[in-house]
Amino acid sequence: MVPVHAAWAFLGLAPLLVLGVPPIWTQPEQVHLSYPGVPGSMVVTWTTFNKTESKVEYGLLGGQLFEMTARGNATLFVDSGEEKRGMYIHRVTLIDLKPAATYVYHCGSDVGWSDVLSFTALNDSTNFSPRFALYGDLGNENPQSLARLQKETQLGMYDAILHIGDFAYDMDEDNARIGDEFMRQIQSIAAYVPYMTCPGNHEAAYNFSNYRNRFSMPGQTESLWYSWNVGSAHIISFSTEVFFYIQYGLELLFKQYEWLKKDLEEANRPENRAVRPWIITMGHRPMYCSDDDQDDCTRLGRKDTKPPAPGLEDLFYRYGVDLELWAHEHTYERLWPVYGDKVYNGSKEQPYVNPKGPVHIITGSAGCRERTDRFNPNPKEWSAFRSTDYGYTRMQVVNKTHIYLEQVSDDQYGRVIDNIWVVKEKHGFSFFFFTLGIDLFLAV
Ligand SMILES: [Fe+2]
Repeated sequence: MVPVHAAWAFLGLAPLLVLGVPPIWTQPEQVHLSYPGVPGSMVVTWTTFNKTESKVEYGLLGGQLFEMTARGNATLFVDSGEEKRGMYIHRVTLIDLKPAATYVYHCGSDVGWSDVLSFTALNDSTNFSPRFALYGDLGNENPQSLARLQKETQLGMYDAILHIGDFAYDMDEDNARIGDEFMRQIQSIAAYVPYMTCPGNHEAAYNFSNYRNRFSMPGQTESLWYSWNVGSAHIISFSTEVFFYIQYGLELLFKQYEWLKKDLEEANRPENRAVRPWIITMGHRPMYCSDDDQDDCTRLGRKDTKPPAPGLEDLFYRYGVDLELWAHEHTYERLWPVYGDKVYNGSKEQPYVNPKGPVHIITGSAGCRERTDRFNPNPKEWSAFRSTDYGYTRMQVVNKTHIYLEQVSDDQYGRVIDNIWVVKEKHGFSFFFFTLGIDLFLAV
């Protein structure tokens, strides 16, 4: 017979038996990379549950392992759920990296290290042709595209990933354990290439606190909006959610608008646009779509909105934005070049050669518990191609005049179901305006 005190001791262990082995509190996990916007640099971010030092030991592939050490710091993030779970988010910036060189690294401290990981420093030449995977709306449950993305990242097919909002579903759930699990799930991608993000509506809980604390995007906005350069592209990431969650402060909307205007002005300075002619935006909720949940795609600042706020469509058009990437709709949709609800193709035969308005791509079908959405049976004339397959988009900024985009269907085992070349010999508002003027003149 088991003595009574032994039985009590056994019962005391019951929670551990149910929940599994508790984590090693000093062990790094949830490792991910981001590009801080300064050539030759990379930020490594990870989580521990106890306070530890923040170190990255690294070296060139083929060289002496861990010959260099960089140090950073950790911030305590306390989730706002009932349990008030706390965790330390560590950030270390590596600098003076050789462009296009591959580094081997691990992160942590003397009380716990990550696996040995690797990344290739971004090539800082404006002649570089970066390759991206783009998607939004990837969750813990039903993350259908994840396995394919993991393998393709391991095959070296991407220089960066753009996750266009909506993570985990939702990061705050189960006292942020869902967020932890999601960050562990994407480590197999995000610890190897910069994982660049923008916030979506699923990050809204507690004023986007999981998103703001867990990611490390460039600038000082807690990853809400920022821009960065790569190859011949200037990429702007922003929050569409400032238009929707005004309870967190309407001033954010105006602040972001002013920042966008300033950033676009700077990107349009002749000396900047000459070397980086492509301006690409990414934001979660699209300006246009033909899904059957009508509300989302008409509310985002095409024109001035309610509450009174400046719309984004005119701003992006005036500054000659070339390509606008969106998600949120759990589908893929490619639009003809569009402005003010009208199609502005380059020509009838070659719509994307010198288009007279921005090109929009909506890619929100990576996979999540909400499954895919349905389309409106009667799309407007700006809708060019639609798919409800799970999948994601590949993009290559080939050079100053050519961008290639293709849509991968995971449902069809990786088949490319759509592709376009966007070709622009001239960029900027004056080109839009000039060609529009010619069209109007010819129409008279
Ligand atoms: Fe969304």
